[in-house]
Amino acid sequence: MTTDLRTLLARRQPGQTLEAPFHTDPAIFRADLDIIFGRHWIYVGVEPDVPDEGDCMTVDIGPHAIIIARDDDMELHAFHNVCRHRGARLLHTPTANIGNIVCPYHQWTYGLDGALKFAAHMPADFDKTCHGLRRVHLRSLAGLLFVCLAETPPADFDTMAETLTPYIAPHDIRNCKVAHAEDIVEHGNWKLTMENNRECYHCSAAHPELTRSIFAEGFGFAPVGAEAEAQTQRFHRLVDTLHIECSRNGLASREIEHLDDRVTGFRTERLPLEDAGESETLDTRVACKRLLGNLHEKRLGALSLWTQPNSWHHFMSDHIVTFAVFPLSAETALLRTKWLVHKDAVEGTDYDLANLTAVWHATNRQDSDLVGKAGAGVRSSGYRPGPYSPDTEALVEKFSAWYIGRMAASLDA
Ligand code: FES
Ligand SMILES: [Fe+2]
Repeated sequence: MTTDLRTLLARRQPGQTLEAPFHTDPAIFRADLDIIFGRHWIYVGVEPDVPDEGDCMTVDIGPHAIIIARDDDMELHAFHNVCRHRGARLLHTPTANIGNIVCPYHQWTYGLDGALKFAAHMPADFDKTCHGLRRVHLRSLAGLLFVCLAETPPADFDTMAETLTPYIAPHDIRNCKVAHAEDIVEHGNWKLTMENNRECYHCSAAHPELTRSIFAEGFGFAPVGAEAEAQTQRFHRLVDTLHIECSRNGLASREIEHLDDRVTGFRTERLPLEDAGESETLDTRVACKRLLGNLHEKRLGALSLWTQPNSWHHFMSDHIVTFAVFPLSAETALLRTKWLVHKDAVEGTDYDLANLTAVWHATNRQDSDLVGKAGAGVRSSGYRPGPYSPDTEALVEKFSAWYIGRMAASLDA
């Protein structure tokens, strides 16, 4: 690292993009893994990733390899994917359905609760109870799974869960299935992927499919020019109408924003959609005939949920699209997207997979291209921090300010 991390944190100018080393320097990347991904609540997936007894899922958060397992009592557990004998990686596939976790090296065998059950050739006084898998903190927020690698995780998860559960619960994630999942490697630091998500400044130019249904105004965009006032008024009228309809239907909908004033930052709001107003599809109508949970109304707009540092989600009446960002290297990140529908929905009868995934499949590629362009730019010697638009990128600033604040607080501690 050419400049000390503390110096870079201290001299960061609010309202400006981050200096290049935050997006390129391997030493800062290691600090991100340690401080941000090692000590905060990280979104990793959904309960329907492991719906049945014996289901396991593996997730890599940088060098931290994790197993999420559902035991025979349907309890969920998270462990380091590392054998307690000589440290071999235990599971090597993204998912598995197994009775026990058996190490491929010398066959030490663990239950799905992490307890060591069998270890051959160990002395009579070997204490198996001291060699269970190392646990990772795991919480389910109405079906969204978060892990924390720290010994003592941030204590504010419960208040976030209390606040957000009334918003998410009606979509009944636990009774969904993952209809489709895709991973994209983005050629930019994980923070460039997050910055790109936290604004809709680029939406009208970049996302012809997404902007058929969403309003950029819901994501911090402030229109300008001759039509700005009428456009803004129309958007706010639709928001007000949606909130009134939601409260009539007993659904939480109003904006709550704590992106930069909490350790576990988040934002949510139920936002109207264009035209038919039903879903983030090319024709703005539901993609799945079977609605989620006990929902009867198709036209619920989209519940937007963001969590710091690595997730965003769109909940509609018929499907959910959920996004997790995982750091891969200083200059690459993995974007993992999952489309969820009701578990009883039948592909080909209730939904067409191409229609269900069309908008975000296209949008992800457009975003990935933009992140790659930003990544290439910040790598170049000519890059200097630039100004965020105060009107349309205030929520990007909240991401960057949260990141700088958390890094500085952890270094001070
Ligand atoms: S390393 Fe796992 S059994 Fe030896
Ligand atoms: Fe985008």
